[in-house]
Amino acid sequence: MGTSKLTHLLSPGRIGSLEVRNRIFMSPMGDNLGEGNGHVGERTKRYFEARARGGVGLIIVGVGGIAYPAGACIPNQVAVSDDVFLPGLQDLTKRLHAHGAKVAIQLQHAGKVATQDMACGRPMWVPSVPEMKAGDLFNDLTLEEIRRRLLEELQQKAGLGSVWRFFDRHGISFKKKRSGGRAGSA
Ligand SMILES: Cc1cc2nc3c(=O)[nH]c(=O)nc-3n(C[C@H](O)[C@H](O)[C@H](O)COP(=O)(O)O)c2cc1C
Repeated sequence: MGTSKLTHLLSPGRIGSLEVRNRIFMSPMGDNLGEGNGHVGERTKRYFEARARGGVGLIIVGVGGIAYPAGACIPNQVAVSDDVFLPGLQDLTKRLHAHGAKVAIQLQHAGKVATQDMACGRPMWVPSVPEMKAGDLFNDLTLEEIRRRLLEELQQKAGLGSVWRFFDRHGISFKKKRSGGRAGSA
């Protein structure tokens, strides 16, 4: 497609005092490319650098943790909660500016969906801890749920007419419930 039809998209824009070379913005996406300790490293820099080189006007880095590691929602997100993170962030902006892109970062605390807090057992920063429901992330299945799900799946897949009860080794044995009522080990 010729660029003539994209004159508006490709013309300079402005957000307040921020001048941008065109109207192509990269929306914030938690890319999970950080260094695992909140720092911006080479992976993040190269990823965004490729977009800047390609012509994006404004790059918005996703999920910059404001209380890192608290509130993190992915293992390798970048952090803005301490000056120790500045060198990586400064180098990132320098490299993106060199390609003519402007850079912003999304400030983030994942609140009740801070999956890293859940995974690491940190207290969650929410007004009230959400009630865990079956199917939520990191919610343990109860033994009864495991039994029920296994039973349902097995029955469905194998097309079994009768119900097999599955117990793990702590729960004793396999049992077959027959219509007549006799149960035996399998
Ligand atoms: C992989 C992925 C990660 C995303 N991560 C974030 C994020 O960290 N923060 C956010 O505000 N939006 C996030 N989004 C939403 C995008 O920024 C964007 O709003 C969404 O993809 C819709 O874009 P569109 O309006 O251009 O279709 C993410 C989207 C995708 C596909």
